Amino acid sequence: MTTENTSLDPRFSKVLFTHEQIDEAAQRIGKQIDAEYQNSDQVPVMVIVLKGAVMWAGDVMRHIKSDVEQDFINVSSYHGGTASTGEIKLVTPLTVDIKNRDVLIIEDIVDTGLSLAFLKRLFVSEMGAKSARVITMLDKKAVRKADVEVEFAGFEIEDEFVVGYGLDYKEIWRNIPFVGVINPEVI
Ligand code: IMP
Ligand code: MG
Repeated sequence: MTTENTSLDPRFSKVLFTHEQIDEAAQRIGKQIDAEYQNSDQVPVMVIVLKGAVMWAGDVMRHIKSDVEQDFINVSSYHGGTASTGEIKLVTPLTVDIKNRDVLIIEDIVDTGLSLAFLKRLFVSEMGAKSARVITMLDKKAVRKADVEVEFAGFEIEDEFVVGYGLDYKEIWRNIPFVGVINPEVI
């Protein structure tokens, strides 16, 4: 992991991943998606998980050359602080019928894995998707509570609270163009 000097921005104690590094990860995954889905008989559906996955989804989309459809879903698992509550709610549902389709869930981060487990169950068991795999920017593997597979991950990170590049602290700082560790003095 790289660490950059953030002395100019007191909100962060370090930069974990720059925009360039994140874009490279998206490119690597984009190529894998093209290789794996190029012979599918149907166009896969990318389900972008609002709000945090939007920036990462833009990068991933630009690096996928094959045809993909997009839809959005909003689940809330988490209420403003720095720890997951474990309770998942569907805030806005899908608009596309995913029955018998391959779904690619685009996530900002998999932490406890409870949100991802909820989504995979919803898509496959309740909505009849043929498959549901995840493309996450970050994977906090060490803190996993749910037994859920993470198929494509940009980076594995330790158990630190990170913000930027879509990830928020109390709904702000999603627009920061890198992933950084928050300075504990500001929270
Ligand atoms: P889960 O614990 O895997 O269900 O993740 C729930 C949600 O918590 C994620 O989609 C993020 O929105 C949020 N989250 C988890 N870890 C972090 C973090 O380090 N920074 C910001 N949001 C986080
Ligand atoms: Mg999220």
